[in-house]
Amino acid sequence: MTEKLISIDGVAKRFPGAKGETTVFEDLWLRIDRGEFVCVIGHSGCGKTTLLNILAGLDTPSEGAILVGGKEISGPSLDRAVIFQGHALLPWKTVLGNVAYAVSSRWRNASRAEIEERARKAIATVGLAGAEGKRPSELSGGMKQRVGIARALAIEPTIMLMDEPFSALDALTRGTLQEEARRICRETGQTVYMITHDVDEAIYLADRIVLMTNGPKARIAEVVVNPLPVDRRQGQIHHDPHYYAIRNHLIDFLVSRSVILRDTPPPGYDQRNPPVVYLDHGQPAARAA
Ligand SMILES: Nc1ncnc2c1ncn2[C@@H]1O[C@H](COP(=O)(O)OP(=O)(O)O)[C@@H](O)[C@H]1O
Ligand SMILES: [Mg+2]
Repeated sequence: MTEKLISIDGVAKRFPGAKGETTVFEDLWLRIDRGEFVCVIGHSGCGKTTLLNILAGLDTPSEGAILVGGKEISGPSLDRAVIFQGHALLPWKTVLGNVAYAVSSRWRNASRAEIEERARKAIATVGLAGAEGKRPSELSGGMKQRVGIARALAIEPTIMLMDEPFSALDALTRGTLQEEARRICRETGQTVYMITHDVDEAIYLADRIVLMTNGPKARIAEVVVNPLPVDRRQGQIHHDPHYYAIRNHLIDFLVSRSVILRDTPPPGYDQRNPPVVYLDHGQPAARAA
């Protein structure tokens, strides 16, 4: 049984500018279920981060609303943890100190021992047991990003919002962290909204992939349902018979359809209900949700 957790209801964002107002997007609609891992793909500047900031409560929509669990959001909340590309760790605090700091903001009346226990557990989950006493300057990029994930996990958020969290890492570390992120999110039933420009990352991680057209006035062109099995293994997905269908579909979108679909939406296109694409027969076939 799926349960709708996030409702993006007719959201617009406009920025004032020297040459008049820019509409990043308008009349954007999307639903995300509890426990779903959603990746968003689209060219730079289409509004992915703007939407994430609104979801985080760090920015407000010009029109429309975002509801989480049926309640309109009105600012940042510890229920929605954000993981950025840069890890933004406090440099003077240790790994344990950084994670414990987040825990103590969530459970203000918890004892020191309790806070430390939660922090240590999250640190162990991301594979950093033993590094609790290190400071950020002593950590590699991958380890810093793990601390960022531990910090987010430790506050047990309902939703994790990730903005290209692995894009600055080398390929090997990125692969390892993707694997860990998928395992952790599945084990904890985490709901995730993640921006990526890496098609393979989206295919490995996402249950559904939201394709945003170029901006200004970007639209959700399609929502692609990942045809790969849930027990997929990283490094093996290219052997799956559906892999090339989805990969080609995503790349074709980025290469050409992301512009065409902004300017000329297909007949019957409804922004409130963007086409859902299933690729499980090797052919792109849109059908209603
Ligand atoms: N604070 C701001 N003021 C004016 N324009 C902005 C602001 N933030 C973002 N934009 C514009 O909104 C558009 C979408 O930006 P962004 O959400 O960062 O794109 P993406 O994350 O998809 O690369 C861009 O054209 C950007 O220049
Ligand atoms: Mg961005």
